[in-house]
Amino acid sequence: MKITLITGASSGIGEAFARRLAAEKHDLLLVARSEKALHELCDELMLTHHITAHYMVLDLTEHGADAELWAETEKHKFEVDWLINNAGYGSVGDFSKLDRENELKMIDLNIRSLVALTHRYLGPMRERKSGKIINVSSAAGFQPIPFMATYAATKAFVSSFSEAIAEENAPYGIQVLALCPGSTKTNFFNASGIDRPIQVKGQQTVDDVIETAMKAIAGGRRKVVSGFANKVGAFLGGHAPHFLSSWAMAKALRSKYQGDK
Ligand SMILES: NC(=O)c1ccc[n+]([C@@H]2O[C@H](COP(=O)([O-])OP(=O)(O)OC[C@H]3O[C@@H](n4cnc5c(N)ncnc54)[C@H](OP(=O)(O)O)[C@@H]3O)[C@@H](O)[C@H]2O)c1
Repeated sequence: MKITLITGASSGIGEAFARRLAAEKHDLLLVARSEKALHELCDELMLTHHITAHYMVLDLTEHGADAELWAETEKHKFEVDWLINNAGYGSVGDFSKLDRENELKMIDLNIRSLVALTHRYLGPMRERKSGKIINVSSAAGFQPIPFMATYAATKAFVSSFSEAIAEENAPYGIQVLALCPGSTKTNFFNASGIDRPIQVKGQQTVDDVIETAMKAIAGGRRKVVSGFANKVGAFLGGHAPHFLSSWAMAKALRSKYQGDK
């Protein structure tokens, strides 16, 4: 049975992907830690769209979580046809003062788990000569961001990795997309301990982001930034000398996080 696997589907962009793809008749396997949210979403989507929706409760920062997920898909003979690596979180603050374990767990989720799942499901996709992988990156990945140093670097990794494997796997009929949202109305800021979105004006909705992603998939794209203002920001951030864009980004946050400097 062909299935679309979405990580971080209990809220935000992942939930919106689940809703959109269920409406397009994808059968789903949803992953996150919040059992109640996953259970309720699966029930609703099955009832509304007459699809099959499974869920698995997993903490993807745990080493070995990818093996557990793989075992589950093997047990049910699921062929993961679309893989959406979406689960992620961030942090903000003076790096030297941030919680070290939390920074490392962010790398485990935003990078390690994404690489492990991509590696596991690419093999069978290549044998079938079909498959789509959407790796949720960020407009934050186009430049170093002081006071969001680890998060921005994880997303730079996600974009670079995704573009590289997009090229490697194009001859096998597999499309890989790095989806780069800008500031989007979700639980992300709360979950990341950010007291208010850094860019409040012009925040996108999850539906804006999903629309961008679906058009990019249909258009065979490998990387897309969602929203015009975010495209401009990403272009400038990516093309300006990094010492300059870092200085500009830090200007807004230094007084808050290094008030003594
Ligand atoms: N919102 C934005 O402004 C924005 C901008 C650019 C990029 N992004 C990216 O978009 C992606 C989705 O974020 P969002 O904005 O939709 O935020 P969100 O509403 O907080 O969603 C994050 C999802 O990841 C799951 N998750 C978190 N930690 C997990 C873990 N250890 N194991 C498994 N699942 C975990 C959460 O579920 P549980 O808590 O139930 O586990 C939730 O379903 C992230 O990769 C984020 O970096 C967001």
